[in-house]
Amino acid sequence: MSQRTKIKALLESEQTNIEVTVKGWVRTFRNNQFIALNDGSTNSNIQIVVDFENTDPSILKRLTTGAAISVVGELVASLGKGQKVEVKAKTIEILGDSDPEKYPLQPKKHSLEFLREIAHLRFRTNTFGAIFRVRNSLAFAVHTFFQERGFVYLHTPIITASDAEGAGETFHVTNLNMANPPRIENGEVDFKQDFFGRATNLTVSGQLEGELGAMALSDIYTFGPTFRAENSNTTRHLAEFWMIEPEMAFYDLEDNMNLAEELLKYLIAYVLKHNAEDIEFLTQRLAEEEKQKPQQERSDMSLTEKLQFCLDNDFQRLTYTEAIDILIESTPNKKKKFQYPVEGWGTDLQSEHERYLVEKHFKKPVILTDYPKAIKAFYMRQNEPDANGHETVRAMDILFPGIGEMVGGSQREERLEKLEQRMDEMGIPKDELWWYLDTRRFGACPHAGFGLGFERMVQFVTGMGNIRDVIPFPRFPKNAEF
Ligand code: 4AD
Ligand code: MG
Repeated sequence: MSQRTKIKALLESEQTNIEVTVKGWVRTFRNNQFIALNDGSTNSNIQIVVDFENTDPSILKRLTTGAAISVVGELVASLGKGQKVEVKAKTIEILGDSDPEKYPLQPKKHSLEFLREIAHLRFRTNTFGAIFRVRNSLAFAVHTFFQERGFVYLHTPIITASDAEGAGETFHVTNLNMANPPRIENGEVDFKQDFFGRATNLTVSGQLEGELGAMALSDIYTFGPTFRAENSNTTRHLAEFWMIEPEMAFYDLEDNMNLAEELLKYLIAYVLKHNAEDIEFLTQRLAEEEKQKPQQERSDMSLTEKLQFCLDNDFQRLTYTEAIDILIESTPNKKKKFQYPVEGWGTDLQSEHERYLVEKHFKKPVILTDYPKAIKAFYMRQNEPDANGHETVRAMDILFPGIGEMVGGSQREERLEKLEQRMDEMGIPKDELWWYLDTRRFGACPHAGFGLGFERMVQFVTGMGNIRDVIPFPRFPKNAEF
């Protein structure tokens, strides 16, 4: 195989009049003369100028949209508008034909819905090229952020016997014969005969195991896939999504919030710096999409401005109790515009309420803390009841404009007695989680952590409205194609 130069490097090349080899996929071929070639290294195509009078017509015919080709030629300063350099082709080799009658991607605008049906090919569009380069950068930046701060990357298990969030929305993992599983006397499936000798499922969170690591390594983070069988067909939920979960010994909620805010800003700044071209493209894309919307639904900031705004402003921090007061007094609540009216303390916030706080009231990211104990997970640290007798826990959720909940986390309940009492109240089997409780028996210490939904972050940074468009092959109810 001959060496090739990536298109990104060619377009940035200081040198011209040199021989180069370039390989990629044809985006368009016009006037029998100009190929727009792309290899995914950048959103921009390189122009290949074909000497059609001296090129075999059978080759010209095969220069169709989607075909893979290899070109040897001279990199020259371009005479045309729109590009600094182009390649004057000497030889063109067709590596893989693409039948123009059958190739589903035409050089025109396709809807995101259509592209989702051909997710195996959508990488070849400008939009998805940009999205997946940004996603890549964000993943890399997650690691640099934590590595720069001395965190240990811990691989928590994918198959587990626990359901960390206690929500029961797990996918079972079994190799029993589903048509005829072994059963115990009362008719229930006998999981003792299953592969692991017990019922297991795909993890919904690496947190509980992460806590075990933090109780020795101090600062750890996980970054892996998580699975939830919740039947929510929304633009914010996937059945398989990636989550970043740091867990820090000796952190309280304040430290936890500071780290989370720092992480989110770091990720945004990283992409603005390293993916400027892609963000510029996605900003244009969003601006065009917004033109289709009625005026009042359009955002008053461009994507780039939104990202910059997040960097320049402190996130608004307030307690759940303060947020409820704001919501009760809010115009949409008084005018009965919320689908779920906010009547008083204790109810869970719906996404319409979160969005009101973030998009209308504060107009910036918000960190809500100290939620009612009754609506949060068992492991969150319990506060003393307030003057009104309200029982809360040291939870924090970070809410983002256009997204809703981006981060969920808390300081953990490190006091064994309080934790056990809460597990009893919530019917969480203590014997199954004996190992988790052991950390509270031996050298327990204050600690905290959070989970950042990776795809929601990619969504925010790319300005994509649907979470299914920021993961290569989305998993959602009734869909596991590709
Ligand atoms: O709020 P969640 O459920 O928190 C946890 O799992 C904790 N164990 C985290 C921790 O403290 N270590 O999920 C964390 C984040 C949410 O804020 C959201 O961004 C994302 O994960 N998330 C989802 N993203 C896509 N699809 C889904 N179905 C998601 N469910 C949660
Ligand atoms: Mg949550």
